[in-house]
Amino acid sequence: MPDALQLLKTRRSLKPVELAGPGPSAAEIDTLLTIASRVPDHGKLVPWRFIVFEGDARRAAGEAIVTAFRAKYLDSKPEQVEYERNRLARAPLVIAVVSRAGPHMKIPEWEQVLSAGAAAMSLVLAAHAHGYGATWITEWYAYDRGVLDALGLKDNERIAGFVHIGTPVAPPEDRPRPPLSEITTRFTNGAKRP
Ligand SMILES: Cc1cc2nc3c(=O)[nH]c(=O)nc-3n(C[C@H](O)[C@H](O)[C@H](O)COP(=O)(O)O)c2cc1C
Repeated sequence: MPDALQLLKTRRSLKPVELAGPGPSAAEIDTLLTIASRVPDHGKLVPWRFIVFEGDARRAAGEAIVTAFRAKYLDSKPEQVEYERNRLARAPLVIAVVSRAGPHMKIPEWEQVLSAGAAAMSLVLAAHAHGYGATWITEWYAYDRGVLDALGLKDNERIAGFVHIGTPVAPPEDRPRPPLSEITTRFTNGAKRP
């Protein structure tokens, strides 16, 4: 398990297919979810929830993706359909972070959405802290209402991310990061734009 600063400085996403078994145990999943739910939350609204996909349930959920895919692409090939069926079965564990942000008298919806993003990021970091790899993706089916209905999302709920978690098959290569000088200014006595 890497130390906290080293983890934060080196974290990288892996592709779902680069995440093999073993996945987290039941106790580890509880810890991941506990950490993910410990995020800043203005108004303590809990504007997010989680759906865990493991084992056979991953391909069962894939059937919902297949149904939507077939409806979109009437001439889809069997290998494409199989790819879609396997979407949530590429990694041993997928946790959907569901945003349930909505209008509120005091708390802007934007802040509720940000809190769901924080939950997804904490989940990714918690997985890395356990020595697993993780990636936060959405892909097309996160935006398909038929898929969302089949996965049990209410009309006001949206997918913040499908966080894929597993054991990295190889250490990830790094990618360039934005130079701090391009994304950071110091406020002095007048606004500057980066
Ligand atoms: C809300 C959200 C949705 C994302 N969806 C996808 C996606 O569907 N497919 C994808 O390849 N990357 C997606 N990404 C980007 C990856 O999570 C990841 O950041 C990217 O592969 C770069 O890797 P890094 O995290 O190591 O910088 C998404 C990121 C966010 C924040």
